[in-house]
Amino acid sequence: MLHKSFWIDGIGRPSFPSLKGSVVADVAVVGGGITGLVTAFMLKEAGLKVVLVEAGSIGGGVTGHTTAKVTYAHGLVYQSLISYLGVRNARLYADSNAMALDWIASLSRRFDCDFHRSDSYIYVGDNFGRLESELSAVRMLGLPAVLVDDPPLRLIGKGALRYANQGRFHPMKFLIGISSLIGKGVIFENSRAKAIEEGVVKTENGEVKAKKIIVATHYPVFDDNNYFLKLFPWRSYVLAMKLKEPFPDCLFYRDDYPFHSFRTYNDLVIFGGEDHRTGQVSDTSERYRRLLDFARSNFSVKSVEYRWSTQDNLTPDFVPFVGSKGKGIFVASGFQGWGMTNSVVAAFVLSGSVVGKKSKWAGIYDVSRGMSFRAFPNMIRENAGGLGHFVKSRFVKGRKCTHMGCRLTWNDAENSWDCPCHGSRFSADGKVLHSPAIEPLKEKD
Ligand SMILES: Cc1cc2nc3c(=O)[nH]c(=O)nc-3n(C[C@H](O)[C@H](O)[C@H](O)COP(=O)(O)OP(=O)(O)OC[C@H]3O[C@@H](n4cnc5c(N)ncnc54)[C@H](O)[C@@H]3O)c2cc1C
Ligand code: FES
Repeated sequence: MLHKSFWIDGIGRPSFPSLKGSVVADVAVVGGGITGLVTAFMLKEAGLKVVLVEAGSIGGGVTGHTTAKVTYAHGLVYQSLISYLGVRNARLYADSNAMALDWIASLSRRFDCDFHRSDSYIYVGDNFGRLESELSAVRMLGLPAVLVDDPPLRLIGKGALRYANQGRFHPMKFLIGISSLIGKGVIFENSRAKAIEEGVVKTENGEVKAKKIIVATHYPVFDDNNYFLKLFPWRSYVLAMKLKEPFPDCLFYRDDYPFHSFRTYNDLVIFGGEDHRTGQVSDTSERYRRLLDFARSNFSVKSVEYRWSTQDNLTPDFVPFVGSKGKGIFVASGFQGWGMTNSVVAAFVLSGSVVGKKSKWAGIYDVSRGMSFRAFPNMIRENAGGLGHFVKSRFVKGRKCTHMGCRLTWNDAENSWDCPCHGSRFSADGKVLHSPAIEPLKEKD
């Protein structure tokens, strides 16, 4: 078994130069995951000069470690969205993500990324009533979901909500395809943004001067909006396994504790789950063990070929933050584990704002929106954990995060130092693995 992402292993990524010296562009994009690359592509199509700087290699962040189900069936989200935002805005969320699914399907005809349509099934543990409530919610929004009592996966039992005609792809092939459409002279790798100062993105060895700057670094590295109080990183675990029996060629998502997700890729079943707040669990090997135990007790596992983990950011009202607080700086974050479509929505909203065409979806994703009082318990619960660690860090010794000084937790499965406050991660020798941190760990704390 290899301990790395199947999507990245052996893919043969193109490489791009690192940024040296000063360049001028209409727009600078920081971050080369799906959000940064799709936004750069749209801006380039709009005729703008774009420069994208990526700290490592394109796709090396969350996008290269995702499970890449391309769908607007985002778990049982729609009853919550109606409660937090009302029917009209919940419908806009659904419409924008459905548009993103179709946009990906259409773009994927231009290059090979193994995009296929498949049905998506959402299921729960014992409380079947949650599915019935969700069905009422999605009917209000006009979404074509149905409740079925014979889902094609035996372990589901009583029933599931089926969304027909969703999709899945190979995320790295998608990024490689889109970067070939973007063309030469735009993408710079191994060029970490260290600062943004009045229309200039500064990297280690260069700078980009641009009136508009898109921060697509997964967790925003430059915080002008107290994101540290409203973005909550959760980490989860993935096995890519071969089974002795056939597995249905569909998407499955268990919206319950523990959450589980399944999709196939050729003869592999990609199985994810066992999430927790980043940095708040140290025995992460146990999470892989639990996934494997579950797989073995429900399937005939022939082999586990790969295992890996990654993280995504939650928001209190389950809607991403996309937009600008001013000064020409834009962010996109908080995709809730559904970044394949949410990133495309973000790219539409951001590229529209940059060229002065406000998208009809901009309002619901607005970074300055007020939080519904119904979403407040989520905010308080998530912050209680993070703030507890933040305060405790003042009084205890140990390795401290270079973002805001929280004491780091050793992640035994990934051999990394993970921050329980806002999810920065560092390698054993102190290099930044995940934002919002920008600076490596100091030699000794
Ligand atoms: C286990 C798991 C499974 C998932 N499965 C699905 C799924 O099935 N379907 C779905 O829709 N979503 C899924 N998601 C969510 C989805 O993968 C993410 O939301 C999405 O990939 C985020 O993309 P991104 O471009 O915002 O971030 P990233 O891909 O992380 O890109 C950000 C980039 O910014 C770079 N960067 C950071 N700091 C700097 C800096 N200072 N300067 C320059 N560059 C910098 C990083 O190196 C990185 O490459 C899953 C998430 C997890 C955790
Ligand atoms: S990520 Fe904010 S203190 Fe570590």
